[in-house]
Amino acid sequence: MYSKSSNNLPGDLLNAVLSSQATSLVLFDHQLNIQYMNGAAEMLLSVSARMVLGKPMDQLLRCPQDVMAQHLATVIETNQPLSEREVVLLLPDGHSITVDCTLVPVEMEQQPGMVLAEIRRVDRQLRLTREERLISQNLATRDLIRGLAHEIKNPLGGVRGAAQLLAMELEGSNLEEYTRIIIEEVDRLKSLVDQMLGSRQLPVMRKINIHHILERVCTIITADPEHGAVLERDYDPSIPDLQGDADQLIQAVLNIVQNAVQATAAEGHIMLQTRILRQFTLAGTRHRLVVQIKIIDDGSGIPEELQERVFYPMVTGKPEGTGLGLSLAQSLINRHGGLIEFTSKPGKTVFTIYLPLEQSL
Ligand SMILES: Nc1ncnc2c1ncn2[C@@H]1O[C@H](COP(=O)(O)OP(=O)(O)O)[C@@H](O)[C@H]1O
Ligand SMILES: [Mg+2]
Repeated sequence: MYSKSSNNLPGDLLNAVLSSQATSLVLFDHQLNIQYMNGAAEMLLSVSARMVLGKPMDQLLRCPQDVMAQHLATVIETNQPLSEREVVLLLPDGHSITVDCTLVPVEMEQQPGMVLAEIRRVDRQLRLTREERLISQNLATRDLIRGLAHEIKNPLGGVRGAAQLLAMELEGSNLEEYTRIIIEEVDRLKSLVDQMLGSRQLPVMRKINIHHILERVCTIITADPEHGAVLERDYDPSIPDLQGDADQLIQAVLNIVQNAVQATAAEGHIMLQTRILRQFTLAGTRHRLVVQIKIIDDGSGIPEELQERVFYPMVTGKPEGTGLGLSLAQSLINRHGGLIEFTSKPGKTVFTIYLPLEQSL
């Protein structure tokens, strides 16, 4: 908390100090009128202090749902500081910016209930940095998993071979049962490790039609007699071909659709939707055209506690799940310069795949 008694700087000097601050500072009185703002705040909010001093706060800090006004009122009421991240401010010139904001009660004898707002602009493209973080985390964990998978896989062949030899020695004995278990478990482990390694082949980029990929996935799904879900399509047939590895894209989409099938009951509906987006930015790169594929299901939704982590390997909500499907799908799509996102609540889960059609401008 700022307290006047802690220093006795002369007014001019204090003013000079505050003006030189890189952090934007705005002081409000208890009626939320603006009492002071420093140079950084004038720059950030594109106003001159002279124009707004004495004016109500909503002439300066407008934001959706008036969150700022509510927070300021809370600070005055509780006399406790409050920090809020990623607040959107609507500037007088019509632009909006995203800021982190700390509101601190200021003790002054003559004027109780003052609040100092410290405002820091956060990355202009917060969303992009999040995407980049997601991609680099995914790459790092996949490297780790691949390394681990190799180490596990190497001795498996030897174990299996030895168990087979042992089985021959033990033929007819009741100990043969144990060698069978060893071989079965080794095979199970090997197929798990193969999934962890993912496709070992380098992507073979060819011109492909996204709808062929999606239809292939539908064929694979409906070939399973137990699938039970109703697959619906809403395609934009005008989407041009893209450069990609068909097998890898089928695998990525299949992993997402399979999850949707598993999350919907027998009567579930799964919608595959395609659209074209123009001038769309993916992980910092602007693309003229991006294909958007949505896989929408009306199933159980992703459990709240998993939502932050579903793209991490080994994260699963299923008793028999491997937790590898989404992590693999994300890295396959990343390799194509794309990205997977989702939103989920019970009854509606939407996975969105973005794939650039053309490289950046
Ligand atoms: N469409 C969906 N609806 C509900 N939950 C989902 C959906 N997609 C993924 N999930 C959740 O995310 C988890 C991780 O998925 P995934 O990586 O494919 O691994 P696995 O399917 O082996 O569990 C799933 O176990 C499930 O809990
Ligand atoms: Mg899965």
